Amino acid sequence: MRAYRIDSPEGIQALKIVNLPEPTPGPGEVLIAVKACSLNYRDSLLIQGGYPRNRTYPVIPLSDGAGEVVGIGPGFTRFKVGDRVAANFMRDWLGGPINEHALLSSLGGGINGMLAERVCLPAHSVVHIPGHLSFEEASTLPCAALTAWNAVTSANTKAGDTVLVLGTGGVSIFALQLAKAFGARVIATSGSDDKAAKAKALGADSIINYRKKPEWHEEVRNLTGGVGVDLVLEVGGPGTFERSIKATRVGGTIALIGLLDMGTEPPNIIPLLLNAQKVHGIYVGSVAMFEDMNRAITVNQIRPVIDRVFPFEETRQAYEHLMSQKHLGKIVIRVGEG
Ligand SMILES: NC(=O)c1ccc[n+]([C@@H]2O[C@H](COP(=O)([O-])OP(=O)(O)OC[C@H]3O[C@@H](n4cnc5c(N)ncnc54)[C@H](OP(=O)(O)O)[C@@H]3O)[C@@H](O)[C@H]2O)c1
Repeated sequence: MRAYRIDSPEGIQALKIVNLPEPTPGPGEVLIAVKACSLNYRDSLLIQGGYPRNRTYPVIPLSDGAGEVVGIGPGFTRFKVGDRVAANFMRDWLGGPINEHALLSSLGGGINGMLAERVCLPAHSVVHIPGHLSFEEASTLPCAALTAWNAVTSANTKAGDTVLVLGTGGVSIFALQLAKAFGARVIATSGSDDKAAKAKALGADSIINYRKKPEWHEEVRNLTGGVGVDLVLEVGGPGTFERSIKATRVGGTIALIGLLDMGTEPPNIIPLLLNAQKVHGIYVGSVAMFEDMNRAITVNQIRPVIDRVFPFEETRQAYEHLMSQKHLGKIVIRVGEG
């Protein structure tokens, strides 16, 4: 079978197609014919050696993939051949609080990932995908969608809350869709007017261009009557954190998710305690959360926003597109038929 493998983190040229023996499912395992994979910002860091953990090489990249069960190990019955499935980002985080062991089991980083024609995984790490989604759509769920779900549900988001999402990448667009499904009002930021218009069409109630308005937190406060938002999905990191604190209401939550903007100076964190705000470090989600999210996606008929689909042979171009940050939503790689 064909797979991509990264032998050392030397950038895009590190992505090489290799021929590997087809895996055989052991007890409790399923064999998946991968149909589609999707990219996350993390994947661009992993090929450059810039990801802060799980830097195992050689490795088959990508946490995100969906496909069809084509084989089942001895003695196992939860899945059957033909089931449409996706794997959890962390193979060994089944439910409950995250733990050290689960952190070591992230696909496409700590252990081999999904960018292969066949992947064998323990059935405990696999979920059924929503019936209304294509494999390409479902391949976008394991990392970005589940991270957004974890952030939105951990903050107990409810109808009438205001949620702030930064930028229009994979996590933020899913957060917009999920927060709207909970009945929340969504304020989004973007550095591009074109993308802002698309985010508006996807349901964002207000958009702020953070390039034109670098002090965007002031606009957020104006939009919330001077109060601030209930939740911000902070994908920027050190460079945006202080403005996110200022954009959040007293007692509100900052879900700390990403590191897109490393900033130049450490943020002032004192207002966090003066305003009794909560900071929640989020690291994707568990299998149990993935199953809960898929139920919500099904009931609300949510469709992931795909920016562009690349053939397997053009994986390097897909990574280049990700790194250009021209996309809105998700970038997908088609692996098999379907
Ligand atoms: N903790 C976790 O579990 C977890 C899970 C997934 C992702 N992440 C992290 O979250 C971040 C986003 O990931 P992703 O996969 O959604 O990325 P992505 O799809 O590559 O999205 C990048 C987008 O973010 C926006 N952006 C860039 N710099 C920004 C800034 N300074 N302020 C506001 N927006 C900015 C841009 O949107 P516009 O062009 O619209 O401005 C850009 O297109 C990354 O740091 C990633 O590593 C963490």
